[in-house]
Amino acid sequence: MRCILVLVLCFFLFMSHGLGLKEDANTSSCIDEERQALLDVKANLIDLHGNLSDWASERVDCCKWAGVTCNNQSGHVIKVDLTFGSTGFTGKSLQVLNQLQSLNLSGINFQANPLTSIFSMSKLQSLDISGANLSGPIPHQLANLSNLLELDLSNNSLSGSIPFSFGNLTFLTYLDLSQNPLEGDIPQSIGNCSSLAHLDLSQNLRNGSMPDSIDQLSKLEYLDVGHNSLNGSIPNFIGCPFLSF
Ligand SMILES: *[C@@H]1O[C@H](CO)[C@@H](O)[C@H](O)[C@H]1NC(C)=O
Ligand SMILES: *[C@@H]1O[C@H](CO)[C@@H](O)[C@H](O)[C@H]1NC(C)=O
Ligand SMILES: *[C@@H]1O[C@H](CO)[C@@H](O)[C@H](O)[C@H]1NC(C)=O
Ligand SMILES: *[C@@H]1O[C@H](CO)[C@@H](O)[C@H](O)[C@H]1NC(C)=O
Ligand SMILES: *[C@@H]1O[C@H](CO)[C@@H](O)[C@H](O)[C@H]1NC(C)=O
Ligand SMILES: *[C@@H]1O[C@H](CO)[C@@H](O)[C@H](O)[C@H]1NC(C)=O
Ligand SMILES: *[C@@H]1O[C@H](CO)[C@@H](O)[C@H](O)[C@H]1NC(C)=O
Ligand SMILES: *[C@@H]1O[C@H](CO)[C@@H](O)[C@H](O)[C@H]1NC(C)=O
Ligand SMILES: *[C@@H]1O[C@H](CO)[C@@H](O)[C@H](O)[C@H]1NC(C)=O
Ligand SMILES: *[C@@H]1O[C@H](CO)[C@@H](O)[C@H](O)[C@H]1NC(C)=O
Ligand SMILES: *[C@@H]1O[C@H](CO)[C@@H](O)[C@H](O)[C@H]1NC(C)=O
Repeated sequence: MRCILVLVLCFFLFMSHGLGLKEDANTSSCIDEERQALLDVKANLIDLHGNLSDWASERVDCCKWAGVTCNNQSGHVIKVDLTFGSTGFTGKSLQVLNQLQSLNLSGINFQANPLTSIFSMSKLQSLDISGANLSGPIPHQLANLSNLLELDLSNNSLSGSIPFSFGNLTFLTYLDLSQNPLEGDIPQSIGNCSSLAHLDLSQNLRNGSMPDSIDQLSKLEYLDVGHNSLNGSIPNFIGCPFLSF
């Protein structure tokens, strides 16, 4: 009996010690799989200025690497900023980082379109891939990122028209698609992006028309559709402080 009691006591001591250790442990240490994904990202980049020198397997805590931010509870990588003048990247290994909230790939000279790697990052709120040599159409699946607040794809070679699916981005406050060779109509569905405050479609749309649904964007503070060849009427934007047609 006493032996069992001692065993039970030992067990509880062990348990509480174990739990204690867990509480003391620095929970910001990164997740193995995500560290590996970031190392793959680095392996596929040309790090022009050596900014990613601390991205190394022996530096176990990837949450402390330059440009990386983790959630301090879960340890998941939630923010990646790769705007270091890197080049030659395909974006593929980013897919593993499925808890990302913010991704900045601005200025990277992509050799392949990375957008397909991003569709499943359902927590993404901020995505900046401006000035990154993106080409081809804007994939309609981008609207799968239903939590997006900020989307910047400006200054690329994106062609085709703005996807109708963008009407699903109802939280989006900032959309910049300027400086792309886009064409065709602005979709009627844009009227469903009811949070939009900043909309820049300048220097691209070579033809097409402005939908009347744009009148529904009651939160707009900045609207630039200048340097286009749009037809259609200028909507009633008495409340919009910045307007450029
Ligand atoms: C976790 O690491 C940070 C940075 O090294 C340190 O400031 C902090 O005290 C650590 N937290 C714990 C609980 O050890
Ligand atoms: C990248 O590295 C270069 C050279 O060390 C430095 O001048 C630059 O500020 C770094 N950029 C960032 C964003 O840290
Ligand atoms: C965790 O992150 C949140 C938000 O960034 C911050 O307010 C909080 O102080 C952090 N907690 C610790 C223990 O570092
Ligand atoms: C992305 O990084 C660039 C360069 O550092 C910066 O100018 C831009 O504001 C960043 N984008 C976002 C959405 O923070
Ligand atoms: C842009 O990407 C294409 C491939 O899509 C590549 O052929 C081209 O060289 C890139 N442009 C620059 C300036 O590197
Ligand atoms: C869209 O996001 C969901 C999760 O929110 C994911 O299961 C699905 O695979 C994504 N679709 C595509 C085309 O990636
Ligand atoms: C467009 O992107 C290129 C490549 O990143 C950059 O050199 C250029 O300064 C950008 N132009 C504007 C107007 O932002
Ligand atoms: C919006 O998303 C729903 C599913 O969440 C989908 O059924 C619908 O087709 C999408 N609308 C557009 C315009 O893509
Ligand atoms: C826009 O919203 C209306 C009403 O909520 C809905 O009927 C319509 O299908 C939506 N259109 C798109 C493109 O999401
Ligand atoms: C815009 O121009 C493209 C060819 O450059 C053409 O295929 C398309 O039908 C035009 N769209 C409109 C709405 O005029
Ligand atoms: C704009 O042009 C397109 C085709 O080029 C036409 O179908 C549409 O009716 C025009 N819209 C207006 C308001 O003139």
